Amino acid sequence: MTASQQCPHAATTVLDDEFLQDPHVQYARMRENDPTRRVTTITGMPVWLITRYAEAKAALTDQRLTKDYRGIRSVLDRKTEEGADSANFGESIQAHMLNMDPPDHTRLRKLVVKAFTARRVEALRPRIEQITGELLDRLAVRDSAGETEVDLLDEFAFPLPIRVICELLGIPEDRRQDFRVWSNTLVSGEDPRASEQAALAMSEYLLELIERKRESPGDDLLAGLIEASDESDRLSGNELVAMVFLLLVAGHETTVNLIGNGVLALLDNDEEHEKLRADPTRAAKVVEEALRFDGPVNLATLRFTSEPVRVGEVDIPEGELVLVALSSANRDDEKFPEPHRFDQDRATGGHLAFGHGIHFCVGAPLARMEGEIALRQLAERFPNIALDVPRENLRYRFSTLMRGLERLPVRLS
Ligand code: HEM
Repeated sequence: MTASQQCPHAATTVLDDEFLQDPHVQYARMRENDPTRRVTTITGMPVWLITRYAEAKAALTDQRLTKDYRGIRSVLDRKTEEGADSANFGESIQAHMLNMDPPDHTRLRKLVVKAFTARRVEALRPRIEQITGELLDRLAVRDSAGETEVDLLDEFAFPLPIRVICELLGIPEDRRQDFRVWSNTLVSGEDPRASEQAALAMSEYLLELIERKRESPGDDLLAGLIEASDESDRLSGNELVAMVFLLLVAGHETTVNLIGNGVLALLDNDEEHEKLRADPTRAAKVVEEALRFDGPVNLATLRFTSEPVRVGEVDIPEGELVLVALSSANRDDEKFPEPHRFDQDRATGGHLAFGHGIHFCVGAPLARMEGEIALRQLAERFPNIALDVPRENLRYRFSTLMRGLERLPVRLS
């Protein structure tokens, strides 16, 4: 029996704005009644949604759920003929490891792991402390000048990771604003033509930068990637561009939401906020619970079935698109007791906020470090931070995969 036969309303669930504003209520219902079921994306695409922890974790290591972007594109094209809109796949910028299966994935991942070393990440710590301090200094000046309205996302959570990732990759300062715009356009995906133009502009610029780095390498990650690829398995210019694109986008939009969702969880939970204020070294625990409680990635990226796959009680046929709901898995009470309670002292081990299996987030140590520094310094400098709008006015940005607020207006003191 298929899930849609089990539930007559299954086909009516659309991953639209209403769903995305508060997915946790619907996810809880699905985990209970219909944990693996067909839903429809906002563009009309039918996909299978996996919502329980055990099944989500298993799906992320199941090789029959493939990520090869050419395969996904052909499934999308077929679905398009059936009347749904197509997504903008297949550009060379999409040829990165998150869109690949072994052995292509293995080859590219090995190169990035060789360049993205723990030493390189750890070496960034003083710079991240400094950048965070500078951003908060700027907010403090505005605060003491009596300017009360501060959007913490715009003025803190966004600029921090973009500066860090650009420094890590060695993107010169005068081009960073361009990267922010390109990355936003590409992630929102609202306007396919704008996305294409942003991808093209970014590729052209990166190819130029790679050439310059080949001639005079530095000590940054991009130089490390070029070196690793030149030593062994040489990457083509396009492969390098796709890799840098992935690192930029994956490393930027997500960390913004870790900070935003983390701060909001604290503002919503006075006792938990008080614990952090009393001891800001607790920030690492807060980050881990924020990842579980309201992680930046709601749904893992698209997969499709290369053969029929049984998930729990449900048979998913071959050639179907599948989304693994990380946010739902992380609120499954089979894994995390009282999952809707934000508790920085709980055991968070095994949460799926960074994915699982071969595509497990390469940037997790960096993201954890940024989140920890951001929340610690914020608690030290602005212990009296409070929301500056009624709670019900906060809205999440429209994005199927990501979960993050549009704005986070706060009063600092
Ligand atoms: C993959 C989450 C920050 C680079 C992933 C995946 C998730 C994730 C869920 C797997 C997606 C899937 O299987 O479909 C996050 C979160 C972050 C974060 C929640 C911040 C809190 C970063 C940073 C970087 C990064 C800072 C790099 C600078 C990557 C890359 C992959 C990835 C390269 C692809 C790995 C592969 O395909 O083998 N991330 N990420 N991420 N992430 Fe992150």
